[in-house]
This record gives sequence, C-alpha cells and structure tokens, in this order.
Amino acid sequence: MSHKSDLIATDIEAYLESHENKSLLRFITCGSVDDGKSTLIGRLLYDSKMIFEDQLDALERDSRKQGTQGDRIDFALLVDGLAAEREQGITIDVAYRFFSTDKRKFIVADTPGHEQYTRNMATGASTAHVAILLIDARRGILTQTRRHAYICYALGIRRMVLAINKMDLVAYDPSVFEGIERDFLDFAAELGGDLEIEAIPMSALEGDNITEPSERTPWYHGPTLMDYLETVPVDDGLLSSAFRMPVQWVNRPNLDFRGFSGQIASGTVRPGDRVRTLPSGRETTIGRIVTQTGDLDEAVAGQSVTLTFTDEVDTSRGDVICAAQAPAEVADQFQARILWMAEDAMLPGRRYLLKLGARTVTGQVSNLKYGIDINTLEDRPAKTLGLNEIGVCTLGLDQPIAFDPYDDNRLTGGFILVDRLTHNTVGLGLLDFALRRSGNIHWQALDVDRATLARQKHQKPAVLWFTGLSGSGKSTIANALQKKLFAMDKHTFVLDGDNVRHGLNRDLGFTDADRVENIRRVANVSKLMSDAGLITLVSFISPFRSERRMARNMMSEGEFVEIYVDTPLNVAEARDVKGLYKRARAGEIKNFTGLDSPYEAPETPEIRINTVDCSAEDAADQIIAWMDERGMLEG
Ligand code: ADX
Repeated sequence: MSHKSDLIATDIEAYLESHENKSLLRFITCGSVDDGKSTLIGRLLYDSKMIFEDQLDALERDSRKQGTQGDRIDFALLVDGLAAEREQGITIDVAYRFFSTDKRKFIVADTPGHEQYTRNMATGASTAHVAILLIDARRGILTQTRRHAYICYALGIRRMVLAINKMDLVAYDPSVFEGIERDFLDFAAELGGDLEIEAIPMSALEGDNITEPSERTPWYHGPTLMDYLETVPVDDGLLSSAFRMPVQWVNRPNLDFRGFSGQIASGTVRPGDRVRTLPSGRETTIGRIVTQTGDLDEAVAGQSVTLTFTDEVDTSRGDVICAAQAPAEVADQFQARILWMAEDAMLPGRRYLLKLGARTVTGQVSNLKYGIDINTLEDRPAKTLGLNEIGVCTLGLDQPIAFDPYDDNRLTGGFILVDRLTHNTVGLGLLDFALRRSGNIHWQALDVDRATLARQKHQKPAVLWFTGLSGSGKSTIANALQKKLFAMDKHTFVLDGDNVRHGLNRDLGFTDADRVENIRRVANVSKLMSDAGLITLVSFISPFRSERRMARNMMSEGEFVEIYVDTPLNVAEARDVKGLYKRARAGEIKNFTGLDSPYEAPETPEIRINTVDCSAEDAADQIIAWMDERGMLEG
C-alpha cells in the first residue's frame, strides 16, 4: 500500500511541477484519535477552496450517494468523508492530499491517528518540511505527542506547529494555551536546540486562527495556521548536499547503450562530472543525462533520470552513484537508531532484511545498547524493543553498503527493516555512523582447511539439528544416535541445551530474546565443530523458525539436517521426565515452551520423528538410514 501512496505522491508532484511555479511545502499532521485531525485538514482544504480534482470527484460522488443534492460540498460532509476514509485506516497507509493557495502549494501527509499506526506517521514524516502536532486543549501534551515529536525530529523535521485545538471547549482561556505551550517547550528543549516551534491556539471546528485571526483569542498575536504554512521556509537541504543517486535499474536496450536509472536523492549532476559508484569504489565521468523528453544539461534532487558513463564501469542495481570529490561512506557495521513498528518484539540476533535506497541486504541488531524513554528522553536499559519503542543499537550487515549518516542526508541514511518470513515492514532506522571495527578484522585463511580436517576423519561433517518441545525426547534420541555413529567409527559431538546453558550460555534465560541469542551462539558453535570435521548433534528446543533458518543458512548445502522430534504437548507433559511441566502449570516457571511461550513447528524438516509409536533406538535407526541413503556416512 505504501508503494501506492508513494506513486500517487509522485504523480501529484509531477502535476504540480507542470501546473504552476509556486513553492511546494510538504507537511504532516500528527495527532491521537479524536484530536480533530479530520476537521483540521477538512478546514484547510475547504478554506483554500482548491481541492485536488480526484478528491473533489470522490466527494461529490459520496454526496450524491448520501442523497445530498447540489454542486457545492458542505464542510461537514467533507470532514465526514475524510474521517470515514481514515477509519478504514488499514487500507490507507498514508493519504497524500493536495491543496493550494495564491502563495503556495501544499502536500499534506494524512495518517491514521491510532497508536498502532506510528509506522504510517513515520512514512509521511520522512519527506515533510513541517509537522503539525495536534493537541486537544482539554488533554494537553500526551505520551503520543512526545513520541510523534521525537520521530519527526529524528527524521529531520526542524519546524513544528503546536496546534492547540478545541480552544472553544476551554472557553479560549489563555492560561490553558500557555500551560500547554510551556510543557511542550520544556520537552522540546531536550530534543535539540535547533527545533523551531510555533504554538497556535485554534478551533478547527469553529475556524479560529486557521485562515483568519480569531476575535475570540485577542490575547494571541502570532500567525494563523495558514499564514504560517504560507510563509515558512521550505529548503530541506537536499539540493545543496553532495550528489547521490541510488541505481534503481540498469538500462541496456542494446549493445550501444548502457544507462543507470534512478531518482536523484540529493545534489546536482551535469555531463562531465566525475562520479564514484559505491560500494565498488570505481571512478568515472558522466556522459549523458537522459530523460523521456530529451537529454538534460543538469539534473537535481528529486528528478528521475538515466545517467550514462563515458567508460565501461560495472554498476548494478542498488549501487549509489556519488560525487567523486564527496562520496558516501561504505561500511557493514553501524550505530543506528531504530523505531520498532511491529507487534512482535525486535530481537537482537534475529536476522532481518534491511532496505536502504535501492539496496536490500540481510543483517541483524548485534547489540541493543539502550532504549529511549519517550517521556523523559532518557536512556533506559532494554533487551528488546516492543511496538513503538525506540532504541539505539549496533547493526551488522552481511555485505557492505554505501550510506551517509542520517543527519547529513535523510535519503541515503534512513532504512527500513523487513521480516524475512512475513515480509512486513517491522522497523524504521537511521544510521548514525559506521563502526570501524569491521574494517580491521579479516578472515584468517588456514592451510589445514575444513576439507582436510574432514578427510583425516574419513567422514562428511554434518549438523544434525534436533528441535522439539521440552521432554519430547530430543536428547534421548541424540544420545542413542551418537552411540551408533561412534560404533561406526564416526567422530561426533553432542551439544545439548541443558548442558550448554551451564557454561557458554549460563547468562541466558528463557525470554524470546534470550532464546534467540542461545540459538545464535549454538549455531555458531555447531558451525565451528562442523568446520573441525565433526558430525555434530544439536539438541535444543530452538522454538523459532527464524533462528533455525539462520542456522541452516550458515552451513553448506546438504550439511544441515533438521530433525523434528514431533511429540505432542500432551504426551510430553504426561511423561514430564524432569517434572518441569508440573512446576510450570503451578506458575513456578514462567515462559515455558508450549504453555506460555510459543513453539513454531518446522514446516519442512528433513526428518520427522513420531515418538508416540517409536522408541529412541528406532528413531536413531531411522536417522542412520536416512543419512545412509544420501551417502552422508561415506568416508
Ligand atoms: S531454547 O528454547 O533456548 O532452545 P534450550 O533447549 O536451550 O531452550 O533449553 C531447554 C531446557 O531448559 C528444557 O529442556 C528444560 O529442561 C529447561 N527449561 C527451564 N526453563 C524452561 C522454560 N521456561 N522453557 C523451556 N525449557 C526450560
């Protein structure tokens, strides 16, 4: 959906460019449910008397549907229309609305106000010049207001309107207005000294101080909202920043032409400019700037163009073309700020897709340093991030990427995190700086390599990964299997959850975050053992698909064998070998797998073992037979 909104925004912009020569201000309205956002936007659209044609059509259609005749839409109907549209919030991420006045044209990013839609708000804020923070005069500054202000500030917005609305419901009392303004200024001072705030008392419903100064607030001498929006500066710094263009695709219609297409993120480019493509680091010169309407002598931030080079420099989708004298940085380890936007918590160690510009890479939060308390802006200790929480972390990627610190360039320093299984956007992040560490550690190549070590043992290394509930029989089967392999002269080792948790992982408990870390470490250890030439038997509950998949991806093709010890909960609980289920049921153990902590069964394990009908001996034989069929037991 957000793609669609982006597309619409681009269309509107194209329309605007061709239409008039006024400056364009992008702003976003942030508020909670019932703050009067629909009414405010409705008022701005209505009073400016210029609604984007499509919206006008839709509204007129609606008015006819509702039996209201006449060619003039009334204010109440317009507001109802907007509110109804927002109520279906799930289908619209961000609605970009256009209006214009004699002085300027505007795009407002209108987002649903519910708490769970912070994500949409952040999407809208990432391109806005100004944020309007809507406050209900009766309720004052809320945690939600602070969160919105924080996100807008973090996303680079330095001008905010504190729209203190519903003044009619507090009898236009100046002390209410001043109290709220003071509260917010105290908070804003903590955010950063470069933030400019304009507090305006208003009633969107009554129209006070929206486009006309209100007689009911004689004590207020500042601008109306419209005055402010028409006169606030719109420079967002991207035009004057160094040239950057992420390559969206490589255009090669025939052997004579090779162009690199994308939208210019910042700066200016001209034929003859020296550029560097990153991360490869090659330098070349711009040949032509090609567009559908002909070649250009110059192109600037925001324009979509195809660039050609004067020589053959290998560049692919996702690379960034930069000014040679001021290139972006390249790194794979960062300090970053993350806003988490999913119901399921962010788990350090779990792997997510990171999208930045036209590039997608896999990475993980290697360390969550601290969370940020949104009310006080102070650091707070955190092991995970829940919905709408913000944290500072170190981030490790599988491959180096080109980037700028977010504070220097919003477009080449901002990223999103995507869940690898569901493909939902789960987080939004800003790169602060690269950690040099990554550049200083190199993989040490060894002469006695893994193939030599395996040959010496006359075997094929493998990781036999047992997963299943506590008490399902994993360790018993692993034990039986190891004896059989030993008898066949195979070199083996068993990594068992209960044992490893006494040493290497003694610092870990059973929260989701700790289990992810538990499995991350064990996967790495089993990888090392496999490199040493061993057949490693791993016996951990390993309840999450995501981490089992991570372990699988660390090994070579065919080396990882997932063995699902499929014992139903009631059977494992009835056996209760360690008496843990009983204690968990009595509330003495928290987060117990299968009870109050989830177990995600494998969908396509290599081997499934049904322990209800078969003994540990039989199960071990079943695994041996499976390995034998695939030649895994040969020397
Ligand atoms: S995992 O989920 O992180 O993979 P792991 O296999 O290391 O778990 O440890 C599981 C063992 O710890 C169980 O077999 C059981 O003996 C013990 N245990 C103690 N508390 C719990 C709990 N809350 N949930 C599951 N197992 C627990």
